[in-house]
Amino acid sequence: MPDGFEVGVSTAAFQIEGAVRDDGRGPSTWDEFMAQPGRIADGSDASIATDHYHRYREDVGLMKELGVDSYRFSLGWPRIQPGGVGGANRAGIQFYDRLLDELLAAGIRPMATLFHWDMPEPLQHKGGWMTRDTASRFADFALLAGEAFGDRVDKWVTINEPTTVTLNGYALGIHAPGATLMFDSLLSAHHQLLGHGLAVQALRSVGVTGGIGITNVHSPVHPAKDTMRNRAHAEVFDLIHNRIFADPVLLGRYPRFPLLSRKLFAPLIEVDDADLKIIAQPLDFYGLNYYMPTRIGSGPPADDTTPDGVAAGVRLLPFHIQAWPEYPTTAFGWPIAPEFLTETLEDYATRYQGVLPPVYITEGGASFDDVVAADGSVDDADRASYLAEHLAAAFAGVEGVDLRGYYVWTLLDNWEWAAGFEQRFGLIHVNAETQQRTPKRSYAWLQHVLRERR
Ligand code: FCB
Repeated sequence: MPDGFEVGVSTAAFQIEGAVRDDGRGPSTWDEFMAQPGRIADGSDASIATDHYHRYREDVGLMKELGVDSYRFSLGWPRIQPGGVGGANRAGIQFYDRLLDELLAAGIRPMATLFHWDMPEPLQHKGGWMTRDTASRFADFALLAGEAFGDRVDKWVTINEPTTVTLNGYALGIHAPGATLMFDSLLSAHHQLLGHGLAVQALRSVGVTGGIGITNVHSPVHPAKDTMRNRAHAEVFDLIHNRIFADPVLLGRYPRFPLLSRKLFAPLIEVDDADLKIIAQPLDFYGLNYYMPTRIGSGPPADDTTPDGVAAGVRLLPFHIQAWPEYPTTAFGWPIAPEFLTETLEDYATRYQGVLPPVYITEGGASFDDVVAADGSVDDADRASYLAEHLAAAFAGVEGVDLRGYYVWTLLDNWEWAAGFEQRFGLIHVNAETQQRTPKRSYAWLQHVLRERR
């Protein structure tokens, strides 16, 4: 492990906190979405989740025992600013005050994400990220958070995976708000990026002491066949999934769109230069989530499945995502291919040479169908190997990327969005009925690695 390399665990408020009606929290986009029949694979909801809101002390204790340097979590916007406008909800602020103080007392550096997908419902009803004004509302929220926690947060992430919000939330309807706008959803990408830039300005204006960045998810894209048509489809996927979110932030412009698909990208072509200046705020670090590569084939898909759930809209596309039969897969069916973490870093080294700030892998991890043995233990050797291979790739790094850390997704088995409780990603098993936490073998393995380095 390189000297000073930070290892952390990563979570998101809505997936673990529960307590959706406690202490003045307002309803969110996801509250509404999960209540709609058929949206969540197992019909569950996150109203209790892992009850972290009440058990955060125990959870910080487990992190301390694990020996991580840092904890990435998100601030629930509807908890802090229930209606999405106006002043802060004191009780919401106090919860994160307690959490931050607990972390600092345990010697764990806090990384706080401002938007990990739960938006106050009233803002969603005004159009959410399809409405330009939401970017300014988000900046106001950033200001509240910066004022309240700016003295203690070590690193700020503005938005988590704007890609996933646009593609799953606004284009395909797999995630909240469940819109199926296909390519028209690209306006939500621009507004999130604008919100990111305005939030960076807001945090700086209140003098937060921590570094500021964004988290984008990256998937290296490969055509299934080396034909012109297939390469063109792979390029379109690379644009929608990766480049339209990274280029404006790091290069201050949207990519050049291929002539034949320019019409589809229209919302990103007629963009004001002033917006791009705001989006390209200098950053202290850049967050990258890496889970898997993507192989693109030409022609519409044979069925409705996507890596994150089912979406009828994909049948309208002229390309489809293919499997990687040469790799083992997680319970989600995602290929396990650590060499593509290396390729992710290589993509960044070439695309953003000279402008890339220090990088953190802000998420990486795997879901497996864990088995609880008669004695209560969980021997998830598959997860431990997944982490061993991906951490090794991260430690090796690549030339041209100043990689500073890796955050494991995730601490606890939690509520995995549209998959409900069906996908377990945790280092710690959680019994949904009793809320009992049981560290798995992967937890013991990581603890051992972290102890050895000292
Ligand atoms: C990422 C999300 C995170 C979790 C993992 C499995 O895309 O940021 O909340 O769902 O995937």
